[in-house]
Amino acid sequence: METEESGFMTCMLRSYNETLSKDIYAKLWHNEKRETLTKEYLNAISSEETNAHCLRNRYFLETIKTLVANNDIEVLINFGSGFSMYPFLLDQSIINIEIDKPEIVDYKEVKVMQWQAKKILPKRKIHFLGVDFSKDYEDQLHSEIHSIVKNKSSLILIEGVLFFLKMEECVKLFNFFESIQKTGDFIGSVSFNDTVKETTAFQKLLDFINKKGGGVVASDCLSLPDHFYKNIEAYKLIDQQDYYSLSKTYDNSIKLSKDLTLNEIFYLLQKN
Ligand SMILES: C[S@@+](CC[C@H](N)C(=O)[O-])C[C@H]1O[C@@H](n2cnc3c(N)ncnc32)[C@H](O)[C@@H]1O
Repeated sequence: METEESGFMTCMLRSYNETLSKDIYAKLWHNEKRETLTKEYLNAISSEETNAHCLRNRYFLETIKTLVANNDIEVLINFGSGFSMYPFLLDQSIINIEIDKPEIVDYKEVKVMQWQAKKILPKRKIHFLGVDFSKDYEDQLHSEIHSIVKNKSSLILIEGVLFFLKMEECVKLFNFFESIQKTGDFIGSVSFNDTVKETTAFQKLLDFINKKGGGVVASDCLSLPDHFYKNIEAYKLIDQQDYYSLSKTYDNSIKLSKDLTLNEIFYLLQKN
């Protein structure tokens, strides 16, 4: 399974419960092939995946909206942005930087422009930057981001991405985040912790990826303990949520056991 397909699937899942995700634009990415793959994914792994993805979107959307309303951030920098639709769900004053593999951002930019021309999507300030996090990107990306952000306050979002990276790539990214942010800025991050690897749902996820030609074992999939975030010296962990805590907040009833659920953890950090 390509990471590109995982980006489309994330949108399909968000679109299946708009009341929960509050993402009214994710459905624009629908087509038959993506629908079929997503249905197959839900059947193979866990029916909780729909609401888990919806609540992930909801948490970050509400968090970003609150920070914008309080004048705490002016720029949203989305690392591994895939096909997520935050710019269109947020106030038009926000400057958006979307970073992903070149083929992803190029395709997304064309589609966004077509939908904006047809007035299906509202106009927004978006800069698309094509980067592969497994390559040497720091110097060029630093100057590109700096020329857009200048001295403005930002939130960096990295969701659904770390799973695909190696530990050294993850550490490099967090060091890079520190180099582009200033005191008071935020990071929103998503990862699994190690306990997920003991669940039936995770074994089913591996089986699904491998059935699609992935060739992965559990140790290839990055998971991070809470202390990874707690030990980042330059940042303070100011909020931590997961599927269970968000289900209480947003009144979602969970049907399956913990063993049959992929519980992602959501972290909000603020720079010291
Ligand atoms: C599951 S999708 C999540 C997309 C988006 N963050 C969301 O939540 O809707 C994972 C994204 O990470 C991106 N990604 C994975 N590995 C990457 C890498 N080495 N460099 C850049 N982007 C990467 C993929 O291209 C894909 O768009």
